[in-house]
Parts: sequence; C-alpha cells; structure tokens
Amino acid sequence: MAGGSGTRLHPLTKSVNKHLLPIFDKPLIYYPLTTLILAGIQEFALVTSPIEVDNFRKLLGDGSQFGIEIRYVEQSKPAGIAQGLTLTKDFISGEKVGFILGDNLFHGIGLGRQLAEHQNVTGAHIFAYQVRNPESYGVVELGTSGEIIDLHEKPKSPPSDLAVTGLYFYDEEVSDLAASLIPSARGELEITDLNRMYLKKASLEMTVLSKGTAWLDTGTFEGLHDASSYIRIVEERQNSKIGDPFEAAQNQGWI
Ligand code: TTP
Repeated sequence: MAGGSGTRLHPLTKSVNKHLLPIFDKPLIYYPLTTLILAGIQEFALVTSPIEVDNFRKLLGDGSQFGIEIRYVEQSKPAGIAQGLTLTKDFISGEKVGFILGDNLFHGIGLGRQLAEHQNVTGAHIFAYQVRNPESYGVVELGTSGEIIDLHEKPKSPPSDLAVTGLYFYDEEVSDLAASLIPSARGELEITDLNRMYLKKASLEMTVLSKGTAWLDTGTFEGLHDASSYIRIVEERQNSKIGDPFEAAQNQGWI
C-alpha cells in the first residue's frame, strides 16, 4: 500500500508521495518491497493514487530488474488500508496474500526466512511489536493464556503495549472477507475490522517480533529521521545494504 495522504508529513508530502521520500540512500518503498521479496513473494500489486502512479512506474517499472512482476492499481482516494484488498480483487482472488504498508520498515536477522514460513498461511497471520506508544496503532488485547481476545484501533487506554505492525499474511478467503467490510466511523475500510473477522472465526494467528528485530514507523518527521539514521549507522558499520531489492532478489536466485 503506497497511497494515503501523508498529512503528518506536510509539507514534505504535498507534492511528493511519502513512499518515494529517501530513507538514507533509498526511497522508502524499497524497504517494504525488499521485505516481501525476502518472504519469497514474486508477484506484486502496488496500490497508490492515480496522480502518483507514474512516479512509481518510473522507479520500479514492471519489476523485471528485480526478477519480480509489479502491476499498478489506483486508489482514487485514501479510503482505508483494507481497500487495497478490494481494489486488487482480480489479482488476489483465489490466492494467499502477503500485504504490507509501504511506510513500514522491518529489519532483523533471519526475518525473511521467518516470513517465508507464512507463504502457506491458513486464516490470517499478523505481527505484533512491543512499543512505547501503543495508542498510535492497532493494539492487541490478550487473554490470560496469551491468546488474542480482541484488536483495538488506536485505543485511548491500550490493553497492552503490543502494536499490530503493517505486515499481514492472508489465505484465499481474504478477498471475499474484505468485500464485506463496511466503512468505519472515520469513513475508512479498516484493516483492524478485517483482522477481527478472522479472529471471530478463530483463524487469526500472531507472532510477536523479537527485540532483535527493528520495526520503524516512518509516518512522522521524527520517524523518518530516525529510520534514516538507523539505516545509515547499520549500513556503514557493517558495510552492507538494508532494504536493497536487487540484493534480496539476487539472494533468492531470481536475478
Ligand atoms: P497512514 O499512516 O494511516 O496514513 P497516511 O500515510 O495517509 O498518513 P497520515 O496519517 O500522515 O495522513 O497509512 C498507513 C500506510 O497505508 C501508508 O503507507 C499509506 C497507506 N495507505 C494507503 O495506501 N491507502 C489508504 O487509504 C490509507 C489510509 C493508507
């Protein structure tokens, strides 16, 4: 998902899509793209607004340079994250799906291998991460034996400090379930509502990402700056790249 309005980053995002802004030495969109490549995904639909779609085409083309296929799907207005799963109906119907928010940056040793295990997902699989400010995210409510009881979208009093990250794996049912969503009070098709549907059917699973994994949110000035610093420090120290789709595709043997 690479649409949205990016209001928290105005004026940066008034004329440039958030996902094309630099995170140190690469555009933001490279990082989530690389995460899904490392998870073994080779067919992509990139959802963005009609006025920005050509800029993504210029950057990523048809994906063949990374040994993948990218098609582009237009979202006429930012009517919610879960709308990405209805707009791409023709593409995902009958398929298992990896779904990622274009402004979510993940980095951790062995993460690709860990994610690849979910290619065969049954139901839905979400990833949670312990954060200081859970009220800014979807939050997981846990029962006494650690089972998920409920999910809450940006709760004023969070029931836990586990935020739901913007990376999801869904089974073949996702297209039909997403089609039955109704807009929330803020007028959006909510990904939390979709995940709750899976929860009601007792088919929602969760992995809590370890402390050794970094999950960086790049939706604010501070987040954008911190993510750039993080990438610069780790890349320069280790003399290696993070979020490089060419390198990831090479490791997969696709190029
Ligand atoms: P948000 O951070 O919720 O929204 P935003 O990117 O529009 O930013 P702001 O809150 O500052 O206005 O979006 C999370 C991610 O999902 C981001 O990568 C953009 C994407 N997105 C879409 O592609 N379409 C949508 O309709 C929405 C709401 C988000």
